[in-house]
Amino acid sequence: MSTAPTRLLDPGFELTLRPMRYPQFYEMYRAAIRNTWTVEEVDFGIDVNDLRHKLTAADRHLIERLVAFFATGDSIVANNLVLNLYQHINAPEARMYLSRQLFEEALHVQFYLTLLDAYIPDPARRAEAFAAVENIPSIRAKAAFCFRWMDSIHALDRLRTRENRRAFLLNLICFACCIEGLFFFAAFAYVWFLRSRGLLPGLAAGTNWVFRDESGHMAFAFEVIRTVRAEEPELFDAQMEREVRAMLHEAVAVEAAFADDVLSGGVNGLSPREMRQYLEYVADLRLAALGLAPEYGARNPFPFLELQDVQELTNFFERRVSAYQVGIGGEVAFGEAF
Ligand SMILES: [Fe+2]
Ligand SMILES: [Fe+2]
Repeated sequence: MSTAPTRLLDPGFELTLRPMRYPQFYEMYRAAIRNTWTVEEVDFGIDVNDLRHKLTAADRHLIERLVAFFATGDSIVANNLVLNLYQHINAPEARMYLSRQLFEEALHVQFYLTLLDAYIPDPARRAEAFAAVENIPSIRAKAAFCFRWMDSIHALDRLRTRENRRAFLLNLICFACCIEGLFFFAAFAYVWFLRSRGLLPGLAAGTNWVFRDESGHMAFAFEVIRTVRAEEPELFDAQMEREVRAMLHEAVAVEAAFADDVLSGGVNGLSPREMRQYLEYVADLRLAALGLAPEYGARNPFPFLELQDVQELTNFFERRVSAYQVGIGGEVAFGEAF
């Protein structure tokens, strides 16, 4: 056993919970537990009927691309949790949260697995959707972005130096701000756009719960960053800011290219230009969460997001008494103000 760490990123596998050094992570863990849902609660019956009878060819292309992204997105995030984050965030109470997050990512994987099975009955087309990270260039580019940042610290077994810690923080910021906080939020926007047209209520219902979970994952990552910053302010220098901005720029470009593909059929009421503006708006939100000035100064072009989200959260609260206890997801969701 080594001596007790004094900082969150000091290497090791600390076991001592009392006195608890970071009670905020334990509270996030408890809030996440209160926010439990199951895939079995989602009914895809109306969705399947919508897919057969209500959609244009352009809509159908949008959905095909969207679910193909969902087929692997959460597995990538789960892998980074196991391979990188769990190893280096050295507090048992924080590792409790990460364990819970890992369960939630598995739940998301299960949700999208069930969704794809329901949406794509043809085995050949289904297999194609699950292999999208290899076959569809706009999705392959997003996965490549994730893998590059995942690999960037994979060889690090201990965060010994300042450079090691900066590399770790960039990985954490990438997954919170660019992957969970941008790739996934963009995907949610398509779902809520469809919902605003009265389509695919099963996908929309599950998406609301996934959204709450992802909001919690981001809140945890930002709390880790805030904590490390308080402990080691020198890590957050001008070079770090430059790297974060460059990373976000690339993520916006990669996701905008995906939007060009998703919307290539000419979807009525949703343009690639608006989608790019939304991405820039969300990127600015992430910068603000890091305490950085906006990069784009973009406004949210999608009024349907705010309405849709509030309405769905209301339904959620009505549906389950236990949901009243939720602090983390709800708080972040309303504060984020799309
Ligand atoms: Fe997820
Ligand atoms: Fe997540």
